[in-house]
Amino acid sequence: MNIDNIKKQFPIFNNKVHNNDLVYLDSANSSQKPQVVVDRIYDFYTKEFSNVGRSVHYLAVAATNLYENTRSMMQKYINAKDPNEIVFTKGATEAINLVANTFGQKFLEEGDEILLTELEHHSNYVPWHYLRKLKGIKINFAEINNDGEITIESIEKSITPKTKMIAITHLSNVTGAILPIKEITSLAHSKNIPILIDGCQGAPHLKLDMQDIDCDFYAISCHKMYGPTGLGVLYAKKKWLEALPPYQGGGGMIREVKKEGISFGDLPNKYEAGTMATAQVIAFGESIKFLNQIGIENIEKHESELTKYGEEVLRKNNSVKLVGNPKNKGSVLSFTLDGIHAHDIATILDEDGVAIRAGHHCCQILHDKLGLTATARASLGVYNTKEDLDKLNESINNCKKIFDR
Ligand SMILES: Cc1ncc(COP(=O)(O)O)c(C=O)c1O
Repeated sequence: MNIDNIKKQFPIFNNKVHNNDLVYLDSANSSQKPQVVVDRIYDFYTKEFSNVGRSVHYLAVAATNLYENTRSMMQKYINAKDPNEIVFTKGATEAINLVANTFGQKFLEEGDEILLTELEHHSNYVPWHYLRKLKGIKINFAEINNDGEITIESIEKSITPKTKMIAITHLSNVTGAILPIKEITSLAHSKNIPILIDGCQGAPHLKLDMQDIDCDFYAISCHKMYGPTGLGVLYAKKKWLEALPPYQGGGGMIREVKKEGISFGDLPNKYEAGTMATAQVIAFGESIKFLNQIGIENIEKHESELTKYGEEVLRKNNSVKLVGNPKNKGSVLSFTLDGIHAHDIATILDEDGVAIRAGHHCCQILHDKLGLTATARASLGVYNTKEDLDKLNESINNCKKIFDR
C-alpha cells in the first residue's frame, strides 16, 4: 500500500493548519473525504440532479438508478443477502433510533429488558432510554473488564429471561476493544434474542460479512467511511424489516393513501420517507469504490500495524496513560496525561497541526466507570503514517513542557 498516493487523493491535506502540515488523527469522529467523493457530489448537482423514485423524466430515472446502484454496492460490500436489507438513514444514530423505536413499539412491554454494554456510545443508549419512559422497560449494562474489553462471559451473565434485545458496539470508540460479535450473536440467537450491532467504528476498518456474522441489525455511519455527512446505513434482516412498522411517515414510503386508511410501500421504501440524501448516497458509491480499490484487508493490516506502533510510542512516553488494553484492538488510542486536562492537550496539539479529539467521546457511562471526566483520543484512518504518530508524540512532549511536567 502506497500511503503517499492514498493521501494525495485527499484534498484536505493540501492545506496548512496554523502554518503546519495537517496531522489528522480524528477519523473515529469523522474521516476526511477523497477527491472522487467531493467531485461526485459536484457532478451530480451540476449535471445529473433530480429527486429519486418519483418522476419519470430522464434525469429522475437516471438519478434513481444511481441511488439504487449504491444500495447494491453496499449490499455486496457487507455481503447482505438482499439489496432491500440496506436502508439509507441520516446517520448511524438514526439507524439505531429506527430500530429502538419500531422494535419498541411492536415487541416491548413493561418489564422487558434491553442489554447494552458499558462501552456504548450515547447513540446506542439514549434511543433505548426513551423506551424506559414510554414502555417501562429496563436497561442492563454488561460490564467491561480491567482491559476495557467486553467478553462473551460478561454478556452471558447479564442476559436474563426478560432480555428482549442485545445492542452492542462492534469496536469501542474509546478503548478500541473489538467485540467478539459473531460469538455474541450466536449466544443471543441460542436464547432467541435479536442483536443489533453499532458498527460505526467497525465498518470503516474491518471486513464485514453480514451473512457470516448473522446479526439482525448493523448500524453504519457513512461519514466515517470516507463518505459524505448526513448519511448512514441500517442493515437489517428482511424478516425484521417486514415485521416492524414504518419509522417515519411521508412521501415515498406509502402504497395507497385514503381518508380511511393507509397502506405502506414495499422494502426498502417503507423505511425511506421523504426526499432522501440523494447526492450523499450517490457520492457514497465512490467511497465504496475507494475502499474496494485499496482492499479492506490491506486497510486492516495497515491500521493494525500503525496502532501497535502508536501504542509502543505512547507507552514509552512516561506521562501518558493509555485508556484500556484490549487484546483485539482497533485503531483508537485514547489517553490521559498526568495533570493536564484533555481539552488543554487537544488545544496545544492543534497549534502544531495535530487534530485529535478530547472529551467523553459520547461515552459518559464508560468515563464514569473509569473514574475519568475526559480523555484525549487519537484515531487513525487509511491516510495515516508512523510519522503522524511521531508528530503526535512530539506534540505531547511540547504540551508537557508548557505545563512543566
Ligand atoms: C460508536 C459510535 N456509535 C454511533 C455514532 C453516531 O454515528 P452518526 O454520526 O453516524 O450518527 C458514533 C459517532 O461518533 C460512534 O462512534
